[in-house]
Amino acid sequence: MSQQPWQSYWQSHTTANSFLHEYESGEGPYGIIADYWAHIFSQFDTNDHVIDLGAGNGALSHLYLCQFVQPTIASWQNIDFAHIQCQTAHACVEHIQADMHALPLSANSVHQAVSMYGLEYSDLHQSMSEISRVLVPNGHLHCLLHHPDSIISLQSQITINVSERLLQVDFLSDLSHCHQ
Ligand SMILES: C[S@@+](CC[C@H](N)C(=O)[O-])C[C@H]1O[C@@H](n2cnc3c(N)ncnc32)[C@H](O)[C@@H]1O
Repeated sequence: MSQQPWQSYWQSHTTANSFLHEYESGEGPYGIIADYWAHIFSQFDTNDHVIDLGAGNGALSHLYLCQFVQPTIASWQNIDFAHIQCQTAHACVEHIQADMHALPLSANSVHQAVSMYGLEYSDLHQSMSEISRVLVPNGHLHCLLHHPDSIISLQSQITINVSERLLQVDFLSDLSHCHQ
């Protein structure tokens, strides 16, 4: 998927992400999802360099900082290829505009890679290859992906099916015939 639709999305939904501002505690993605991430965050070490792939406007770093007002990691980089105006919530959090298919990071430099509803939008061959390049030996990748039966996956599948139908040559010739 190209960067442009996401660019437009974040321009028109400046505060809409999985945790920031959209929901009250106890609603939406809070509860089981926040508990999952709280468990993951509790495993981070003081020297850990963390990256969030497809970070959007920093939902996970926001959640992390709610749990750890005094961060217990070395650094956190939010990586997203869309240009997003982000408020940096803490000095240890940085937002980087970059494609996860070509991470601007050194090999063996990341201890924890996280992603929530981000990785599945990438070409997994490219992104997984980049993740394995930048992770230190025994580094970790923690990701939360859309369930195939979720509304968003089903809607996307419908859009793909319709697009494929539209691209069928016969259908397009029928359309051009209608215009004549
Ligand atoms: C559904 S949003 C999730 C945002 C955030 N993780 C959250 O939970 O609020 C997916 C994000 O992935 C980003 N993205 C998609 N493909 C990407 C790629 N190849 N490299 C970097 N970011 C990408 C999009 O720009 C978008 O912000």
